[in-house]
Amino acid sequence: MRVSRRIEQLPPYLFVQISRKIEERRKRGEKVISFAIGDPDIPTPGHIVDRLCREARAPANHRYPETYGLDEVRQAVVEWYHKRFGVALDRDKEVLPLIGSKEGVGHVAFCFIDPGDVALIPDPGYPVYSVSTMFAGGEPYLMPLTEENGFLPDLEKVPAEAARRAKMMWINYPNNPTGAVAEGDFFERVVSFAKKHDIVVCHDAPYTEVAYDGYRPMSFLQVKGAMDVGLEFHSWSKSYNMTGWRIGMAVGNAEMRDALMRFKSNLDSGIPQAIQLAAIEALRVDQKCIADHNAVYQSRRDRMLKVLREMGLWVQTPRAALYLWARIPDGYTSADYAARILDATGVVVTPGTGYGRHGEGYIRLSVTAADADIDEGLSRLLAWSRAGGAGK
Ligand SMILES: Cc1ncc(COP(=O)(O)O)c(C=O)c1O
Repeated sequence: MRVSRRIEQLPPYLFVQISRKIEERRKRGEKVISFAIGDPDIPTPGHIVDRLCREARAPANHRYPETYGLDEVRQAVVEWYHKRFGVALDRDKEVLPLIGSKEGVGHVAFCFIDPGDVALIPDPGYPVYSVSTMFAGGEPYLMPLTEENGFLPDLEKVPAEAARRAKMMWINYPNNPTGAVAEGDFFERVVSFAKKHDIVVCHDAPYTEVAYDGYRPMSFLQVKGAMDVGLEFHSWSKSYNMTGWRIGMAVGNAEMRDALMRFKSNLDSGIPQAIQLAAIEALRVDQKCIADHNAVYQSRRDRMLKVLREMGLWVQTPRAALYLWARIPDGYTSADYAARILDATGVVVTPGTGYGRHGEGYIRLSVTAADADIDEGLSRLLAWSRAGGAGK
């Protein structure tokens, strides 16, 4: 059997590799503590689960759903976006439910990229942006996210030729993996760049609700002109601890939304209706659960920051998202440093290069392990560092 070149060329998916390593060690009886994956450990709030259980029993929800989702779920998204961001959306033209935002993020390249086209992609970044561009026959042009630039791409450094060939640009704030946030002035620069070069913008925004110290991240669609050029991908996953339920949304420019809807309607049959109805419950009922989750993450963030700094690593205090992006000492690659930590302590951290070559020199730690595991993991890291750390 011969698989396609598309599959042959695929780099191994980082998190699958990490999960395998964890599994191997666990089978040997070791207690592995993982700071590797951004998957909330706190359960989905009870009122959302109750609604799913009720809806699962209704025969009307046992049949094929529609790709474009229930009117009620799109209406709930319209109301939530208006209340949360002051953004007005058309329920029937500007909102599309997704089978988790990853599904839409992965498919949208096929709507705008023809073979030979370029997509402008942040590096480090969520790996799906580059892989989906390549699947569609396009070429990623990587925009470095650097500490000096607050982990925002410097649009002035995009070469004229790349801008000329580009059909789309990816941005993602609050950012995975760096934890950086963006404000309106950056989004405005993105809109004018997109208009000047006639490219569409995809803003991947699943972390706007995970924020600390009272900070409220923006939607890209809040800036003038964004609806002319952009589609925003959002999700229930991180806001309501619903990663396992697979429901997200694309909202924004009607033509872009229509292209994605046409593509998807040839591939999938939508999101199970009981899940759509439970997702309405999440958006409509008291949003206090979000503040409660953020308080837990913030306390973990602070404990982790303290230990990482005691270990001598440079790390900024993230204002949002689930991650700490720590600069490792000179003289190690991030893969090497992460491997040494795992070997010596049984703690899993993600090497920055898993998100692209500009992630070299960093490791990423997620705040989504249980509190007791966080504390045990941190004391292992501290003991390792005090005993000489990677230099031992
Ligand atoms: C930047 C980014 N985009 C998209 C996703 C996918 O989220 P979902 O669960 O909605 O598919 C993730 C998940 O970790 C992410 O970090």
